[in-house]
Amino acid sequence: MTDDESGRGLSRRGLLGLAGAGAAGLALGGAGGAAVAAGIAGAAAANGTSTVYPFHGEHQAGISTPAQDRLHFAVFDVDAGASRDDLIQLLKDWTAAARRMTAGDEVGGGAVDGSPLAPPDDTGEALGLPASGLTLTFGFGPTLFTSAEGDDRFGLADRRPPELEALPRFRGDALVPQLTGGDLCIQACADDPQVAVHAIRNLSRIAFGTASLRWSQLGFGRTSSTSTSQATPRNLFGFKDGTANVKAEEQSALAENVWVGAKQGPEWMVGGSYLVARKIRMVIESWDRTRLEEQERVIGRSKGEGAPLSGGTEFTEPDFTRKGATDAPLIDRDAHVRLAHPDVNDGIRLLRRGYNYVDGNDSLGRLDAGLFFLSYQSDPAHFVTVQRSLASDALNEYLKHVGSAVFAIPAGVAEGAWIGRELFG
Ligand code: HEM
Repeated sequence: MTDDESGRGLSRRGLLGLAGAGAAGLALGGAGGAAVAAGIAGAAAANGTSTVYPFHGEHQAGISTPAQDRLHFAVFDVDAGASRDDLIQLLKDWTAAARRMTAGDEVGGGAVDGSPLAPPDDTGEALGLPASGLTLTFGFGPTLFTSAEGDDRFGLADRRPPELEALPRFRGDALVPQLTGGDLCIQACADDPQVAVHAIRNLSRIAFGTASLRWSQLGFGRTSSTSTSQATPRNLFGFKDGTANVKAEEQSALAENVWVGAKQGPEWMVGGSYLVARKIRMVIESWDRTRLEEQERVIGRSKGEGAPLSGGTEFTEPDFTRKGATDAPLIDRDAHVRLAHPDVNDGIRLLRRGYNYVDGNDSLGRLDAGLFFLSYQSDPAHFVTVQRSLASDALNEYLKHVGSAVFAIPAGVAEGAWIGRELFG
């Protein structure tokens, strides 16, 4: 029962209603409740965005949705001994919780200040905060279908799409096992970091006894625009990132490059996509001592405007044939944008949705920072093609890939259904 139904207790929606009406401070559940409500409702009014993205739909939200500012990405392993029924129950529970949280409601049906004899249904730190554009995107890793030990724990082995297999090793990979692979993933994106963290915290709590966190990543500052309505943000090398990205407005490009079509199958993946996550450490200190002209040569674009070095403005198509006074191409042969461009990658376009991260510093006093690269594509082989093309990328001198994972992202959830229902047939 929600508190709206019970008439007592605190809920996110109840507090927001009060904040919206300018009535903060009205009694919600006795004097204590009123005091809390006054403080929280004031904070809600001053902070965050009330954007709500629908949880249900043809595709999961969080892919072509305009990229929000904050990320909490989490990867889980299903616990030893958990059964197929346990896994199905978890997916049902996650669906119910995700539906509520993305609408700006507290996670459970019960009140936060309910029975003093039980832990509250919701951990409470998002009380009074609006939905903040929260999207929750769920995925299945290759080891969910066949475990690392090779057993068919959940009777899913013959349901694994052939495209879904562990990524090959790439030149220069320095992968850390603790940041690699995993059975299940949840990408939480929101315009308020507390809302994204609250979502992952509560979904981890719901998983207790069935699945455990394997690794996770916080991201601040999107490094991609996924809609023409957004300004292009910058990555930690200070360059505009996302200029040539696939955008939500390009329906045919999405159909061609991002969504799994009926012809491709399997049926349970139609309308879904594949997600590649790469944690890429950036050697910030070396980059910051590099001459501007070298930085621009490495990327192939100008730092201020983000224009291709062949000329024009940010959205001018690069001309890779154009030469300068020395007869060398204006966009270097090893420039990142040349090697990542569809012209040299069988026309492949990825939908990039990455985030800047800083995880403090390392023991040598260097920033432990980089790009948490996320890309959606209709086949992980597309990522593999581009990443292999980047083997001679001039950027590699300043990068180390330390984490890696791939997931099948099923289609959107219909009203009344649950994530992955079609997978379990
Ligand atoms: C820390 C690592 C990386 C940095 C700093 C970086 C930076 C950039 C920048 C500044 C651009 C130009 C602006 C734009 O069109 O977005 C760009 C473009 C691009 N990047 Fe990266 N990138 C990184 C890693 C990757 C990886 C791992 C891939 C895929 C395997 C990739 C794929 C692309 C693609 C497809 C483009 C668009 C190329 C075009 O069509 O013009 N990037 N990147």
